[in-house]
Amino acid sequence: MEIKILSRGEESRVAAELAEKNHAQLRKELSFLPERTVDDFLRRLEWMIDKGRLFGQFEGRVMRAFMGCFTIENFRNEGPGSLTPDWCLYTEPGVEGRLQFSALFRTMLSDVLDDGVRIHAFGVYSSRRDIAEILDLFAYGRIVMDAAVPTAELDAALNGTAVPERSVEVVIAHDTDAEALAELDAELAAHIGRLPVLMPDPRGDDCEEWRQRLAEKDSAAFLARTPDGPCGFIKARNPQFDVTYCVHDDSVLAVDGLYVRPEYRGTGVGTRLLSEIVREAKSRGKRLISVDCETMNPEAYWFWIKYFKPITWSVLRRF
Ligand SMILES: CC(C)(COP(=O)(O)OP(=O)(O)OC[C@H]1O[C@@H](n2cnc3c(N)ncnc32)[C@H](O)[C@@H]1OP(=O)(O)O)[C@@H](O)C(=O)NCCC(=O)NCCS
Repeated sequence: MEIKILSRGEESRVAAELAEKNHAQLRKELSFLPERTVDDFLRRLEWMIDKGRLFGQFEGRVMRAFMGCFTIENFRNEGPGSLTPDWCLYTEPGVEGRLQFSALFRTMLSDVLDDGVRIHAFGVYSSRRDIAEILDLFAYGRIVMDAAVPTAELDAALNGTAVPERSVEVVIAHDTDAEALAELDAELAAHIGRLPVLMPDPRGDDCEEWRQRLAEKDSAAFLARTPDGPCGFIKARNPQFDVTYCVHDDSVLAVDGLYVRPEYRGTGVGTRLLSEIVREAKSRGKRLISVDCETMNPEAYWFWIKYFKPITWSVLRRF
């Protein structure tokens, strides 16, 4: 077994073929996910060769597995961290795969630690339960779930769910709601900053950022309010760089914020807000709805897992 740094050309193409095979396996379990080609992965892996490091594990001249990572200057507001995205990791299943994983991991991580980077995270497809088990044994803990559901399926699931009290109405958010939304967003950030998530320095969008966001063509936002004032919001847009590549597609509407004030929780307001996103997705012809959430945020995790299917788990270890 030999480990080599991969270069552009034949080596990156073989790695891209393995990445495509891995993705095809994920799509066997989650057939609603957009298709990917070898070229899609080739572009990403060549980016990794330029910006990060990419290692292949060879048996003779044949590449069997690969693993790579790159450094993010301020990873989740915690300083420099290294990330292995879900598309940048392939090992064979079974015993061979475990050996490949261990060898690649040692090589890649010693490089990361030599650079003085003390945080490393993996994205792992939910179909790779074998890799998730290894990472569990290697003391990596889950931090984020990326999940999705077909719009039609969510629509059917939400049909008939309890509606909140009449006194709560949900409306499309307008420019004039920017101040109220900024206030609610600050509360959401504070929630993420407290136990059990403890995200350092979280911040929501301020009033001006909300104005800009609401003016964007692909933005969707709804406000829940009572006669006493606003009590929650939901927002969505086209998938951005910070969510799994699996959902980067025109057919996807990505939810990137949901909040209900504590005194209104558990009465169906969150569900009602989500129903508006479904309606919006249908009217835009979006076939899929995606979301990502902190796994250690219990309210959010249990809300999303009720309707959405995990695509990728992100796991992290501090060294
Ligand atoms: C997540 C949140 C928006 C849910 O809003 P909500 O109005 O309480 O949600 P609903 O009343 O519509 O609950 C729908 C379902 O979610 C699940 N759920 C919601 N909160 C839950 C909790 N604390 N524990 C377990 N399940 C929960 C339940 O299955 C519930 O259905 P049920 O009442 O039939 O059992 C709300 O808890 C919140 O604002 N949390 C803090 C901010 C946050 O974490 N936002 C998400 C960022 S990704």
